[in-house]
Amino acid sequence: MIDASSPLKAKRALQALLESDGKYRSVIAAMTEGILLLDMDGIIMGCNPSAERILGIPREMIQDRDFPELGCRFFREDGSAFPDRNQPPTVTLNTGNPCRNVVMGLQKPEGGLTWVRVDSEVLSNPENRMPFAIMVSFSDISESRKQREKLEQSYNAMRELSFRLQHVREAERTSIAREIHDELGSLLTSVKFDLSWAVEKSGNRAEFDGVFQGLDAAIRSVKKICTALRPSILDDLGLFAALEWQAGEFSKKTGIRCRVDAGSSEPAVPQDVATGIFRIFQETLTNIARHAEAVNVLVKFDVSNEDISLVVTDDGKGIDLRATSKSLGILGMSERARALGGELSVRRASPSGTEVALSIPLERRASSRHP
Ligand SMILES: Nc1ncnc2c1ncn2[C@@H]1O[C@H](COP(=O)(O)OP(=O)(O)OP(=O)(O)O)[C@@H](O)[C@H]1O
Ligand SMILES: [Mg+2]
Repeated sequence: MIDASSPLKAKRALQALLESDGKYRSVIAAMTEGILLLDMDGIIMGCNPSAERILGIPREMIQDRDFPELGCRFFREDGSAFPDRNQPPTVTLNTGNPCRNVVMGLQKPEGGLTWVRVDSEVLSNPENRMPFAIMVSFSDISESRKQREKLEQSYNAMRELSFRLQHVREAERTSIAREIHDELGSLLTSVKFDLSWAVEKSGNRAEFDGVFQGLDAAIRSVKKICTALRPSILDDLGLFAALEWQAGEFSKKTGIRCRVDAGSSEPAVPQDVATGIFRIFQETLTNIARHAEAVNVLVKFDVSNEDISLVVTDDGKGIDLRATSKSLGILGMSERARALGGELSVRRASPSGTEVALSIPLERRASSRHP
């Protein structure tokens, strides 16, 4: 039985625990986790071989010392120093509370840096609940951190590539739209003009009606292709006009009512932001047409000096968020929002339907990427 009812008895109890033979001792010795046992004054009374290995300090330099005396320097994940008073053994010693999963960088006395995940807790006499020791356990997470960093690097590289591709795609769409409009559009218009003149001279207009109809259809088709590539209204009249126009087109095509609510004035919105929001809006409407079974859509667009917000709510069947994990549309919208320094949320609306909310801060965009 452990009796820890006085400091002396607590020390004896700890000593007895450390000296006890048998299976528990060999289990602790075989553990890959480092284990330190501290008395209630914070002095390290025992450790296992993994603690020696992870700390890079031999047992005789660990035992009978307190934590600061180990000569290690401890860091937080952000690289700042980990103050003694906030380290798990000290916190548990001072408060009696356990600490769980505390990540610390450990600069060993001879140099190398190891990352450890640390737990600490009080060991108490099960009968009278008197604490008699602090147990600190820690595992070396340096390798898994390295893997995580590599994974993050490749994720960031993919993200960078995706921003770049979006940017290139948008630039290409704009230039193809312009070329088709300027080259093909004006060629068709001038052919129509020349033909009208020649037909006028021949005095035989009726024979050419079919040709004129064909030419008009070709001109309309050129306009439609250019608009689908990049609506000129976005560059000429701004984002709000483009959203209203797109909402109107959507209603015409699908029969779903779409109301746009916006403030009276539209402050200048940077072109990359306008393009990003417009593309997200298009994708949101496409999703409504394809999946929502909605009758009404409400679009709220608001620009302040600090941020732009766009909330699109439909009254359809409501999104099943479990269905979104493997699809790319919403992921692409979120990435676009992120690229503009903002965020996108998609949720079920109340009482029914789906709400897509986009918010883009105008000021904090300096450090974000621009597609
Ligand atoms: N407004 C909505 N109402 C109901 N369900 C929706 C709505 N928007 C999206 N969803 C659901 O979320 C899923 C994911 O949408 P997402 O746009 O990511 O992919 P998708 O439209 O299926 O395919 P794509 O990659 O071509 O866009 C859809 O398959 C659909 O089940
Ligand atoms: Mg989609």
